[in-house]
Formats: sequence, C-alpha cells, structure tokens
Amino acid sequence: MCGIVGYVGPRVDGTALDVVMEGLARLEYRGYDSAGVALVTPGGSIAMDKRAGKLANLRQALESNPPPESSTAIGHTRWATHGGPTDRNAHPHRGGADDEIAVIHNGIIENFHQLKTQLLADGVEFRSETDTEVAAHLVAREFAATGDLTEAMLRAVQWLDGAFTLLAVHAGRPGVVVGARRNSPLVVGLGEGENFLGSDVAAFIGHTRMALELGQDQIVTITPDSCTVIGFDGQPASATAYEVTWDAAAAEKGGYPTFMEKEIEEQPRAVADTLLGRTDAEGNLSLDELRIPEEKLRAVERVTIVACGTAAYAGTVAKYAIEHWTRIPVEVALAHEFRYSDPIVDERTLVVSISQSGETMDTLMAVKHARDLGALTVSVCNTLGSTIPRESDAALYTHAGPEIAVASTKAFLAQIAACYLLGLYLAQLRGGAYAEDPQAVMKELHDVPDKIAEVLRRMDRVKEIARFMADTRAVLFLGRNVGFPVALEGALKLKELAYIHAEGFAAGELKHGPIALIEPGQPVFIVVPGPDTPHELHRKVVSNIQEIRARGARTIVIAQDGDTDVEPYADEVIRVPHTMPLLQPLLTVVPLQVFALHLSTAKGLDVDQPRNLAKSVTVE
Ligand code: F6R
Repeated sequence: MCGIVGYVGPRVDGTALDVVMEGLARLEYRGYDSAGVALVTPGGSIAMDKRAGKLANLRQALESNPPPESSTAIGHTRWATHGGPTDRNAHPHRGGADDEIAVIHNGIIENFHQLKTQLLADGVEFRSETDTEVAAHLVAREFAATGDLTEAMLRAVQWLDGAFTLLAVHAGRPGVVVGARRNSPLVVGLGEGENFLGSDVAAFIGHTRMALELGQDQIVTITPDSCTVIGFDGQPASATAYEVTWDAAAAEKGGYPTFMEKEIEEQPRAVADTLLGRTDAEGNLSLDELRIPEEKLRAVERVTIVACGTAAYAGTVAKYAIEHWTRIPVEVALAHEFRYSDPIVDERTLVVSISQSGETMDTLMAVKHARDLGALTVSVCNTLGSTIPRESDAALYTHAGPEIAVASTKAFLAQIAACYLLGLYLAQLRGGAYAEDPQAVMKELHDVPDKIAEVLRRMDRVKEIARFMADTRAVLFLGRNVGFPVALEGALKLKELAYIHAEGFAAGELKHGPIALIEPGQPVFIVVPGPDTPHELHRKVVSNIQEIRARGARTIVIAQDGDTDVEPYADEVIRVPHTMPLLQPLLTVVPLQVFALHLSTAKGLDVDQPRNLAKSVTVE
C-alpha cells in the first residue's frame, strides 16, 4: 500500500507540483511513512525532493526550497515494506548514469534480492534498502538501450516478479509519464489537455471524473493530449473507461462508505501480500529477514506469544498451528499480564510479539521484559520502523498496508498468515517427521486469498441478518480449537463496533456454566470445524449446536461447503469454502467481521472510530 500520483499538463508553471501535492494529500491514508515528488524540468533534468514522515514535512521542504517550474510530475506517499521509513528509502528513486530516471512504486518486488545481486555485480550503486530501487536501475538500463521510456518500462517489467504499480519519468522526456501495473492498482484520469495517473481516483478527483482502469499486466503512457495502453506482451491493449460518481471524501475510501468496509474487502490482498516472496524456487520457506541464526531457532524449546486484543487472538490461532506443526509448546499471554507476572522465559524461549501498530505500550513492555530475561524476540508487525520491531531481535512483517479503521480486520488475517509462516519455517528448520508437510500447507495457504474473496462475495445474507438484529442486546459466539479464538474475535468485534454485550466461549465449556445464559431467542454464532477436522471435533460441535438449540437458542452457524450435518440444528447457515482445518480462521472470521460492521451501521454508529477507543494504545 502506497499512494501514487502522476501528472502531465499543458503549461510549464506550478500546476504540475500543485496537482501532485493535492493528490498526495488525498492518498495519504494509503501510507504516511514518507513522501516525495520528482519533476521533469524544461532544462532536461529531474528536480526531486523526498522526506521521511508525513506529507507536511515534504510540503515544508518544498516551501523553503521551491523546485523549478515543470509540466510533468510524479509523487508518492509511502507505506514502508522493504527498508525503514527514512529520507533515503522515500520514493522517488533514481536510476541511470546521470540520475536521468525517477521511479515510484506501490507493491512488493518479490525477486528484488536476486535482481539487486545481479545489478551490484554489474557495478550499479544502490542508495536505499528498498525493492523499488531495483526497478529504477532496470528502467534506466533499458532506456539506455532503447531511448524510449515506454519500451524501457516494457523491458524492465519482464524482469520483475510480485506486485507492483510503477511510474517513471525521464529527464529528457518532459510531457511523458509511463506507468505499469501488475497486481496493484493504477487508474488514469483523462483531462482536457492534461492527464493524470493515480493508485486510485482520489488522486485526481478534484480535476476530472473521467477515468480508465488499467487491466492486469498493462503499461500506460500519458502525455498532455494522449493516453496509450499496451500489454506486457507489447501489443496494444484496452482499459475500462468509466465516470467517477464519488465525491472526494468517498474516493479516499475507494467508494466504500467506511474504511473498515474497505479494509475487510482488502483482506485477500493483505494475506496474499504477506505470503509473497517468502518461498524459494523449490517451494521451501525462506525467511532470511528473521536474521536469527538457524541453530538458535532450532534450539528453541518453547514459544511464548505476547499481544493484546485482536492480535492476541491471532496468537491463539498460531498456538494451535505452531504446536501441531513443530511439537514445540506454545503459550499465549496477554502482554500486560505477561509483563507483571513472573514468566518462565530463558534463552531457549522464543517470544513472539504480535502488533499491527508496533507501538502498543503493553506489548512493547512485554518484549523488553522478555529480552531482559534473555529470550529470543521476534516481532510480527504491520508497521515498518515502529518501536516493537526495533526493540526485537528480529521482525516478520505483515503486508496488510495501513489500517485506518480503529477495529482491526485485515491486520488480523495478515497476522495469522505471518504466524503460519513462522510455524512452518520452524517446522522446516527442525526437520524430522512433520505432522503436515510445510510445502503442502504453503500450497494450500496460497489458495486462501481467493477463498477469502469467495466468502466476501457471499455476504448478502449476513448483512441482512445484521440489519434484523439491530435491537439485539446480547450475542454469544462458540468455537472449538482454532474456532475458539475466532469466536472470541467475533465477540470483540461486536462489542467494540456495535456496543452489544457479546461473549466468546470454547464450545466445550458451555456445559460447565455459560449454557445457563441460553433462553428462547438468544442468538448464538457457532464456528463449525470442517468435517475432516481430526478428533471428531466436527461431531462434537454439532452436538453443542443441538444442545443450545434444544434450549431455544437462535443458531447462526458458520460451516464449510457441503457440511449437511449442521442443517437440522441451524436457523441460519453461512457457508465458507473448504480449506485445511488449521487454516480455517482466515475464512470463518470474515462473516463475523461483516456481521459486526453491518450491525453497527444499522444502529447508526461510527464504524471507523468507535467510542472510547484509539487505534494505537500507547499507555500501559
Ligand atoms: C480490536 C483491536 C485491538 C488491537 C490491540 C492491539 O479491533 O484493534 O484489540 O488488536 O489494541 O493493537 P496492535 O496490534 O496495534 O498492538
């Protein structure tokens, strides 16, 4: 997730810079680690400025040192993925013997390590730790060979794997911006004698409502009065034209009424991006970024996961998975409880913290405490350069992009995916007889983003149920095994978004007390494991549904496609596609998020900023 803007206009004046800065301000929600602009000057050079931190830092720098006037500009607001949030790593990045190329990028270039090694061997100097700089050097090299910016981009993208939107300008080509897209968004804004590029329409909505959405693997070249699209095969291609009907505020949310709705829809991408680039050509996991010697990881005797709230529920899912795959005992501790208990931790304990923001004070204190006790610390985090990964021995980043809504959704799924990677990596390192072959699990995991998208397509009935239940006073959630943390997360989402009393229980615990809460009409969500789940768990959960139904509960069942056993006891069945039992939380939690969101909306509440809450809890 980053924000990208490009502009070519008729006049050499301040317009290009103004348009790009205005676009960046509208795209800042996509990332705010750094911002930068590059302008092609009539004199045949590139003027550039880029600053770490919010857009305001760049604006201030440009005010005190205004760039020359220009008709052609690109701009970028960054959500860091490779390389910390510094001035050097801010985009644009330069390439070419005379720095004649400037490139900006959104996405992750999966094979950048290999490409960088080759380029270094060819004598290219790198000035940042980003994956993007590889693309800048490749475009420069291909421009030197062809003398044409579109052709250079076309040749450069053939080298790249992964997800990217790239924009490039050349010092000697005023009036031209070239863009390329694979697995990341890029939209063209069509003006009168001027044209625009943006990662979404918010970038140019103040200037035109006529847009072209580029297709997968396409390259676009804009000049003030032309827009040409070709495919990565070099053949002419067409893009979809449409008129934008949103206003500027809706455009920032991609047309969704709330950031949370948008972030729920982004979940397939968040999981796919988190998995991207973490296996080698043979399909083995390669988490070089962990930078903890393999022998230390092999010697780990126990794992303790520290986190709060939703992140702690991701940790509970991870516990089931890591224990099953590695046979290492895993404990999950709420970070604030861990810190002030007397935890059993030593140098053979791997303490894994999970945090979207990387700034949660409770989690930070737990990590520092664990380090003081001699533990190895790994941070699973969504925010590059934040405090918790800095204070940890190693970091495994989730690539969910910025999460703006206070209630966590896409970060939760990305955290679970990252923990799976960690568990499978430990299993692979330790060798021996796996409970499951890590490669087979990875294969299945790579199919999950499409299945999440499928769940999202099936949500109409969940939205209806949420609307009917706007007056409900209490909702219960049940699950077993990995379904248990999903039930807890479903309850938390409903509490924080809809201010409804909600409780999550381990389904087997019900008969030990909570079943007394069941009275006629009490709504209960039950997360049902697939029929192929071991230990007859499926049958046991079906019995639990029977027990509460017999006492009058209204049962809303989340079950796998084809599971007919639940039907006699379910008032509603919400279906999710099949996947391996341990991976099911990535699918089964989605209807619960959608339910909470729509119930909150039905009550007329502020979905993105629920009362009394903050996105990042920086007090203990
Ligand atoms: C709930 C939610 C919180 C966070 C918790 C930890 O929707 O967002 O429970 O999960 O405050 O925050 P991070 O992950 O930033 O450490």
